[in-house]
Amino acid sequence: MMKIMSVEPELSPEVPPDPTPKRVRRKRYAPGKRPRSTPQGGHVPVMLREVLEFMDPMEGGIYVDTTLGLAGHGSAILTKAGPEGLLVGMDFDPNAILKATETLTATGNPFRIFQGNFAGIELSLAQAGVDGCDGLLADLGMSSYQVDDAERGFSYRRDGPLDMRMDPTRGKTAAELLATISEKDLVEALANIGDEPDPWTVTRRIIAAREKEPIVRTGQLATLLEPQDREWKLRKAKDKFKSHPAIRVFQTLRILVNRELANLEHLLRILPWVLKPQGVAVILSFHSGEDRLVKKAFRAGLETGIFEAVSDRPIRPTFQEKLRNPRSRSTRLRWARRAKS
Ligand SMILES: C[S@@+](CC[C@H](N)C(=O)[O-])C[C@H]1O[C@@H](n2cnc3c(N)ncnc32)[C@H](O)[C@@H]1O
Repeated sequence: MMKIMSVEPELSPEVPPDPTPKRVRRKRYAPGKRPRSTPQGGHVPVMLREVLEFMDPMEGGIYVDTTLGLAGHGSAILTKAGPEGLLVGMDFDPNAILKATETLTATGNPFRIFQGNFAGIELSLAQAGVDGCDGLLADLGMSSYQVDDAERGFSYRRDGPLDMRMDPTRGKTAAELLATISEKDLVEALANIGDEPDPWTVTRRIIAAREKEPIVRTGQLATLLEPQDREWKLRKAKDKFKSHPAIRVFQTLRILVNRELANLEHLLRILPWVLKPQGVAVILSFHSGEDRLVKKAFRAGLETGIFEAVSDRPIRPTFQEKLRNPRSRSTRLRWARRAKS
C-alpha cells in the first residue's frame, strides 16, 4: 500500500565489469587509485542529457518518475514541465522520499510523491488524480546513497547487516533469505540473475558456511566468497575491490530481496495504459536480465501497434560520462513512444 506525501548517486554501482569493447585509449591510474565509484555523497543522475532528449518534457506536461531516488532526474524533468506541469514520483525507500521532497520543493513547481513500489503505479496515479502521463522514467536498481550506507547492507565493500531491502519497513532481509533458500534455487538464481559463471561452487561455499553459523553481515559474506590462493591475496592488496567475486552474489541477492524483476515485469505490462498517446517511456537498466525484459516488452508493443516507435538498440553512456561517473558504466537506456490512438 502506497503512502502519500504532499509536497544519489546513482547506481547500480556494484555491477560486474562493463564488457563493452573500448575504442578510446583508457587513462592509466596508479595502483589502487582507479575511481571505482562516484564520490560519497555526490549525486550524479545517470544519462540525464539523454533522458531529457528522448522524453523531451514540455511546459504544462504530466510526468511520472517511478524511481525518484534523490530526484536528480525528477527535478530536471519537473523544471522543464514548469509551474503548469506536474511530476508524480514514487520510491520504495522512505529516506529517498524525504530527500526528493526537498529537491523537488526547490523547483517551485507542483509535484506529488508516493512511498511504495512502482508495481502499484495505477493506485498512485489514481490518488494523484492523473489518468495518463506525457512521459515516464524508470531508473532501475539502487541509489548510491543506499549503497554508501553500510547499515543498509547493499555493499560488499562496507561491513554492515546483510539487509538489502530498498523499503526497510517490510519484507525479508538478505540474511533471512540466505538462511532458508534451497541449494537448487540459489544455483538457479546465481546462474540466471547473476550470470555467475560457477554457481555450484559459490552455492556450496555459502551452504557450507551457513551450516557453521548464520550469515548475517555483508563483510562475512564477502570474505567467505574470496578465493584462498596467493594470487588473489596479492591482487586484493593492490586493488581491494577489483572484480571482487562477491559482486554477482550481492547483485543476485538484492534483486531477489526486492523482487526487482517481477516489479519491472508488472510496470512493463501496465506502461502502455499509463502513457497518453505520444507519451514517452524511458527506462535505464543496469542488469542484462532487466534490459532483456524491457527490450522484449517494447518490441512486443511495437508489433501490436501500442507503441509507434521504440529504440532499436540500447543506448549507452558516453565514454566521458563513464569516466566521470563510473556508476553509469553498465547503463542501458531504452525508450518507447505510445501510438497516437
Ligand atoms: C537508481 S535510483 C534512482 C535515482 C534517481 N533517478 C535520481 O536521479 O536520484 C533507484 C531508486 O529506485 C528505487 N526503487 C527501486 N525499485 C523500486 C520499485 N519497485 N518501486 C519503487 N522504487 C524503487 C530505489 O529505492 C532507488 O531509490
